[in-house]
Amino acid sequence: MHVLSGMRPTGKLHIGHLIVLENWIKLQNDGNKTFFFVADWHMLTTGYENVSNLSELTTTLVREYLAVGLDPKKSVIFVQSAIKEHAELYLLLSMIVPLGRLERVPTYKEQLRELKGRNISTLGFLGYPVLQAADILMYNADGVPVSEDQAFHLELTREIARRFNSLYGQIFKEPKTLLTPKLLGTDGRKMSKSYGNTINIDTNMKEIEKTVMPMKTDPARKRRTDPGTPEKCNVWNYHLAFETPKEKLDEIHYGCTHATIGCVDCKRVLLGNMKKRLEPIWERIEYFKTHPKDVEDVILEGNKRARNTAQETMKKVKSAMNLVQY
Ligand code: TRP
Ligand code: SF4
Repeated sequence: MHVLSGMRPTGKLHIGHLIVLENWIKLQNDGNKTFFFVADWHMLTTGYENVSNLSELTTTLVREYLAVGLDPKKSVIFVQSAIKEHAELYLLLSMIVPLGRLERVPTYKEQLRELKGRNISTLGFLGYPVLQAADILMYNADGVPVSEDQAFHLELTREIARRFNSLYGQIFKEPKTLLTPKLLGTDGRKMSKSYGNTINIDTNMKEIEKTVMPMKTDPARKRRTDPGTPEKCNVWNYHLAFETPKEKLDEIHYGCTHATIGCVDCKRVLLGNMKKRLEPIWERIEYFKTHPKDVEDVILEGNKRARNTAQETMKKVKSAMNLVQY
C-alpha cells in the first residue's frame, strides 16, 4: 500500500503529534511504501504574514520526525515546497474544483471564524484542500493517516480524483482515510497549543511532572479508598497511549477499580512510562541538533526520491489533459 501524510511546521511537536507519528512509523515498518513530508506551503496559507522562521520550523520538524523514528531508509521524507510538481498539479486540479464546493468545506468556515485576526480571505487559503489533494494524488496514495479533523479534506480529495478521472481517464486512485484517534489535552479538552494543555515532545521530566500531577482524575475517587472508573479519567487515556504491555494496563485498571492504588501512584507510573518513551527521543533530538548536516542530507535525498515519483505522475497527468510535453 502507498501511504502518505504530512504536517504543517507550526512549531514544537507535542505528545498528540507523537501518537500520530507512532502511527506513521507503524505503517512505515509494516512494509508499505511511505511518503512523509513537511507541508510548508500549507503553513503559508494561514501564516503568510510571518515567515521569519519558516525554514527553521521546517528543519526542526524533520529533525523531530527522525528523532521519533521515521527512517529515511524506509520512508521518503521530504519538503513540499521543494517539489514544484505539487504547485503544478494544484494549478491543474484548481481548474476542475467548483468554488462552491470549497466554500462549503467545514474547516474553511471554521478557520475563517477562528482566525479572525488574520486576513485569510485569500485564494491560497480557499485552495488549501486542493493543494492537499495534489500532495496526496501525486504519490498515488492508497491510505492517508490523519486525525478526524482532516476527514473532510480526504473526502474532497476523493471527489477531485473522481472528477479528474471522469474527465480525463483513469489516472488517480481514491485514497482511504486511515483515522488516527486523538489524545485529549491534559485538561480533558481538545489538545491545542492555544489552550495550554499540551506537553511538548522536546521538553524535560520536570515540565512533564508539572503538567501531569495536577491532571483531573475520576471525581469518584475523593479518597484513596474510593474505587474509580479508569474510563472516566483522562489519565487513563494517557496510560493507554504510553503503556504498551497489556498486563501493566490490567494492573492499573485493577488498582483503580479496587482502590489498591492512589491517583498519585497511578500518575507516577505514567510519568515513568513517559520518561521511558521520551528519553531516547530526547537523545536523538540532541544528536540531530548538533548534526544539522545529517538532517539536511535526509531532506535532500528524500526530495530527490519524491521528485522522481512526482515527475512520473505529472507526465501521466499532462498526457491525460493533452498538454504538450516538450
Ligand atoms: N492539512 C494537514 C494538517 O493540517 C497537513 C497536510 C497537508 C496533509 N497536506 C497533506 C496531511 C496531505 C495528509 C496528506 O494536518
Ligand atoms: Fe485515574 Fe489512575 Fe486515579 Fe484511576 S487511579 S482515577 S486511572 S488517575
